[in-house]
Amino acid sequence: MGDRDSKIDHGSSNDVLLPVNDPFPEIQCLDVLEYSQSGGDEEGNNYQVFTPITVVNDMIDKIGRDYLDDIKTTVLEPTSGEGIFVANILKSRLNKLRMNPATYKANSLRALSTLYSIEIDERLVIIQRSNIYTVFCNSSKELGILDDEQYFSLAKKIIHENIMWAAFNMTEPNILSIEVGYKMPPTKKKKVLEFPVWTIGDDLDCKMKMEEFEHEWGQ
Ligand SMILES: C[S@@+](CC[C@H](N)C(=O)[O-])C[C@H]1O[C@@H](n2cnc3c(N)ncnc32)[C@H](O)[C@@H]1O
Repeated sequence: MGDRDSKIDHGSSNDVLLPVNDPFPEIQCLDVLEYSQSGGDEEGNNYQVFTPITVVNDMIDKIGRDYLDDIKTTVLEPTSGEGIFVANILKSRLNKLRMNPATYKANSLRALSTLYSIEIDERLVIIQRSNIYTVFCNSSKELGILDDEQYFSLAKKIIHENIMWAAFNMTEPNILSIEVGYKMPPTKKKKVLEFPVWTIGDDLDCKMKMEEFEHEWGQ
């Protein structure tokens, strides 16, 4: 846990209804969001520094909070670690959407569905997906939404597809890409990444289509 933990709203207990036969049991609503200040491999090599929450919020303000809060604005965090940018943009969007409880369910899923991230390290992807689900569940709890299986299942499905275990911009592989990327199965090292594009109806009826985004893998 690093400094920035103390500045993030921590979640409460995992008390939303979990879907029966949950296909994504690894995506959990956490008691406390998991963010580090820095990290490296098991031997303590290749240290990297993650962005502190104050810098994240300053950057969101500089880009334009109203622009990022628009649920139609598509956001990609390309080397996302534990997903601090995506999680905080989601949190900001949901804070606004809660002002209109009648449209909250469909709009909160739409707000989630236009946020994307890519991370090469599978361990961080798993943490990140739970961080984002925790932000989503904590906001739902504020409106007393606890037991809608269809709603929480769909949120998990969107998070699983949009928060991608993949490699970005490998034309210039760095030491970390080589050290961590070698663990990635060859089938995941695609030249063309596909991004899910979602259409979510007011009744939570949901369609997804994949759109391609080309990038090169280096040798
Ligand atoms: C310095 S961290 C930043 C994480 C987060 N965006 C932040 O600001 O706190 C960089 C992250 O990029 C990941 N990474 C490095 N090369 C990558 C690549 N080619 N594709 C996807 N992720 C990559 C690393 O595993 C690491 O989690």
